[in-house]
This record gives sequence, structure tokens and C-alpha cells, in this order.
Amino acid sequence: MKIALGADHAGFELKEKIKKFLQEAGHEVLDLGCHSTDSVDYPVYGAKVAKAVLQGEAERGILVCGTGLGMSMVANRFPGIRAALCHELFTARMSRLHNDANVLVLGGRVIGDVLALEMVKVFLETPFEGGRHLRRVNQIDELSERG
Ligand code: RB5
Repeated sequence: MKIALGADHAGFELKEKIKKFLQEAGHEVLDLGCHSTDSVDYPVYGAKVAKAVLQGEAERGILVCGTGLGMSMVANRFPGIRAALCHELFTARMSRLHNDANVLVLGGRVIGDVLALEMVKVFLETPFEGGRHLRRVNQIDELSERG
């Protein structure tokens, strides 16, 4: 799977670990930055990943900032993006089964690396259940069309 990655300075180190994990698992990674721990603004990188997913450059996105809050706020401003801020495995799994999340958001200052990588694995491997959940996901898109 092709996956777009983005982080700010607070998420940089976890992003690098996720990148290595994904590449070792055979995924294609589109690393949209940032590329160091120098201070940057998370909206820039959240927007890059959201656009890459919407434009079909990547099938899924993963964003990391300090808490995950800023990145999820940014990504969910883009209609068609369903960004899920997750701190544990159950939510990461449900974000795919019920919400068809296309972006996983993690807080690099909140969770440990092992849990983060487990959540990435679950996020990529869990299918969308569809059915009644598709109707609800479609209602999210209708809301953004209506404004
Ligand atoms: C950066 O200090 C921090 O504010 C950012 O990474 C993120 O947590 C914002 O939501």
C-alpha cells in the first residue's frame, strides 16, 4: 500500500520509526516531511498529507504531532478526509471497521513507539465493514457538501 506520512517537529522521531516499519513491511512511503526536529507549523504538513490522499497519490495517510490534536483538526478540514486520532488499539481498529478512516493521527508525545507501530499495523490491515456504516460515512460527506 502507498502511505503518505507527515509530522511536525514533535512528531518527527515517531514518523521516522513509522517510515522504517512501513518500508520493512513492504509498503511504499511518501514522506511529506518535516525532516528534522527543527520547529515547524503542523498545519503545513497536515495539509500536505490530506491533499496527497484526496488526490490519490497515497491510499492512506499517517500524521504525527505532539498530541495529535492539531494534525487531526487540520486533516478533518478537508472534505473526504476521515482522520482518526487514536491512542489505543480498539479505537484504531474501529476507525477502520466503522468509520473507514483514511488518515491515522498519533500523538508522538502521548504514546509509546511500540503501541504506535501496533496501531499503524491495525489501521492498515483492518477493512471497512460497509453496510450501515457506509450510509453514515456518506452522511459525513453530505454535511461537508452542504456547508
Ligand atoms: C508543538 O509544540 C505542538 O503544539 C504540536 O506538535 C501539536 O501537539 C499540536 O496540536
